[in-house]
Amino acid sequence: MNHFISLENLELELIRDLIDDAISFKKKKAFPNLSNHYISNLFFENSTRTKLSFEMAEKKTGMEIIYFDAESSSIKKGETLYDTVKTLNSIGVECFVIRHTQDRFYEDLISRLNVPIVNAGDGCGDHPTQSLLDLVTIYEEFGTFKDLKVVIVGDVIHSRVAHSNAKILTRLGAGISFATPEFWRDSNMTMGTYTSLDSAISEADVVMLLRNQNERHAQQYNEKNFLEQYGLTKERASKMKPSAIIMHPAPINRNVEIDEDLIEAPQSRIFTQMTNGVFARIAVLNYVFNS
Ligand code: CP
Repeated sequence: MNHFISLENLELELIRDLIDDAISFKKKKAFPNLSNHYISNLFFENSTRTKLSFEMAEKKTGMEIIYFDAESSSIKKGETLYDTVKTLNSIGVECFVIRHTQDRFYEDLISRLNVPIVNAGDGCGDHPTQSLLDLVTIYEEFGTFKDLKVVIVGDVIHSRVAHSNAKILTRLGAGISFATPEFWRDSNMTMGTYTSLDSAISEADVVMLLRNQNERHAQQYNEKNFLEQYGLTKERASKMKPSAIIMHPAPINRNVEIDEDLIEAPQSRIFTQMTNGVFARIAVLNYVFNS
């Protein structure tokens, strides 16, 4: 039994194996058989991609899904997350995919319960399966991480994608820089350098945009001028290397983080990321049950 809560504590060799597994599942369209395993997806924050691509991964591996809806559950009567997971485990659920508003929500669960927990996003903390699918997308493109220049653009301090990716890409040998407004810098982030998108754009191999996390902002910012000041405009994109790619975890605030004409441009891998998410999550489920 394995948890999957962060890439931080996993050996690089294992992460490389998970990337290889995901690419192999994508190419061969042959998946591990996890039928007769019962799983629940517990989402306490909105999600389209993560929730439904987990569901797709679960269906492709033959798993039995026990559906959970936070709004109609006894959470609304005050039941705790621990009691909810303990209850579902008691009736036979063998694995939990959980997204929660609270940073490190999983610590209490893994210290008290003997059931695998997969982190589908914790507060402003980590989003390890998004990170894995991003790694798959970068590796498919370049065949390496070493010495790639990755510029992470936008709302760094509130973004679990930025946190997860900066840490793992640094470990894998990529060079990280952040192009973020002063007010969204994260002083706890010890890796990478700060830059502006105008300075970084012509050298970057990967332009990794972030979503502006409006639901986490204590103070308003000027969304109207954001694209021109900090986002990926067509003019900035025209300075990218021909081999460079555009990434964004989505959902996208069109014409805020990125000019909407660039979302499906030839250098964009945004929808490839979503496709790869299914195969990355199959690799994670296989790791949880079979390694
Ligand atoms: N990228 C991502 O986590 O999207 P969702 O919030 O739709 O799951």
